[in-house]
Amino acid sequence: MAQNWTPDSWKAHEARHLPRYDDANALAAAETTLSNYPPLVFAGEARALKSDLADVAEGKAFLLQGGDCAESFAEFHPNNIRDTFRVLLQMAVVLTYAGKVPVVKVGRMAGQFAKPRSSDTETKDGVTLPSYFGDNVNGIEFDPAQRKNDPERMVRAYSQAASTLNLLRAFAGGGYANLRQVHNWTLDFMGRSPWADKFAQTADRIGEALDFMEACGVDPETVPQLQRTSFYTSHEALLLPYEQSLTRQDSLTGDWYDTSAHMVWIGDRTRFEGSAHIEFARGIGNPLGMKCGPSMEPDVLLKLLDTLNPNREAGRITLISRFGHDKVEAGLPKLLRAVKAEGHPVIWSCDPMHGNVVKSDSGYKTRPFDRILTEVKGFFAAHRAEGTHAGGIHIEMTGQDVTECVGGAVGIADERLGDRYHTHCDPRLNAAQSLELAFLLAEMMTTEAGATQANAA
Ligand code: PEP
Ligand code: CO
Repeated sequence: MAQNWTPDSWKAHEARHLPRYDDANALAAAETTLSNYPPLVFAGEARALKSDLADVAEGKAFLLQGGDCAESFAEFHPNNIRDTFRVLLQMAVVLTYAGKVPVVKVGRMAGQFAKPRSSDTETKDGVTLPSYFGDNVNGIEFDPAQRKNDPERMVRAYSQAASTLNLLRAFAGGGYANLRQVHNWTLDFMGRSPWADKFAQTADRIGEALDFMEACGVDPETVPQLQRTSFYTSHEALLLPYEQSLTRQDSLTGDWYDTSAHMVWIGDRTRFEGSAHIEFARGIGNPLGMKCGPSMEPDVLLKLLDTLNPNREAGRITLISRFGHDKVEAGLPKLLRAVKAEGHPVIWSCDPMHGNVVKSDSGYKTRPFDRILTEVKGFFAAHRAEGTHAGGIHIEMTGQDVTECVGGAVGIADERLGDRYHTHCDPRLNAAQSLELAFLLAEMMTTEAGATQANAA
């Protein structure tokens, strides 16, 4: 167990990007309510994810992490949960089938509400209001009452997370994820994407393989892995009063776990040495993510790894690089080298979203699909050069047919961004763009596997 740590020891550290609440009594009341609510996940599940991630760290599996930039109260609907879940399943099938490795599936779902913002305030037509910090803090409407921080929103976010997680568990274990359903995961509007045909062909081949196996006596009845899948949840552990209220001591091991999600990560803006967020994370037993952007220096990274993973447990730490398409090749190799030389077991995952935001001519915040792809390619190239494992992908996506990122085979043009731009924060890949990315990733993984075999020969 971590030394000199308590669930509230973060309060003695520098906290950035935490909301200030005017009403201390209302905050305390919301914290008490949450502290008495049931945990959302069980510590044993977080350990199961850590063990799956240890396989990724050893190069035997791949991590697929994705979902909304910011979940919202307004977009809370069973169809949205189902559609994001099925696109993640489709991506996982493509990566498993074409990339030939097991895929660990982790949603940015059931708790991904709080957002760090570059500015504390927003000004429109001469009026300045506090920025929007996520639906668990304040409201997105540009209105003084909505923009006021309200601790009661944490309780509503908990309840939305609980129902989201409940549906995800039902989908993962109740038959929806049965491999026999693979054809049914395609969304109607995907028909327009050339990658939908390719997915149908993959699904046909999987169907044939299942027929063959069934003839040999191997079917979903006898092999439960074909009927169900493991699906985990994650979010940025930004809103520490919420995270602390859900942090509980595991009755089996006596260790502390943040039971708000299986995995939590620390954002690029809150992962500085001595931060409240690092202090909080070091004491919980969950697998942890940490974002690494262009300002991350190798010596700081190594110190943070010593703090967060002193026992060097494989599966404990996922480093999520987010450099930008033009910075990854220059910035990532020095981190790969330092971590490898020090012998810290980590999973390297690529977030090709957060370094690639541009303002489009039409005024929308967007991410060009080709820049996303360029960053992923740069990530794979850096790993190939350093002899390390390109272990995962971290994306902002949705199962909806939104128009938020330009490009891709569906050819979202700048002037079409306004058609269905629904995100509460950053632009997400839509279902077709996500599937396309999965096929392109699978190609890169096949090349990586070929290079590894050639080196071993
Ligand atoms: C995010 O993942 O939504 C995010 C804010 O990322 P980063 O911390 O990398 O900027
Ligand atoms: Co984001």
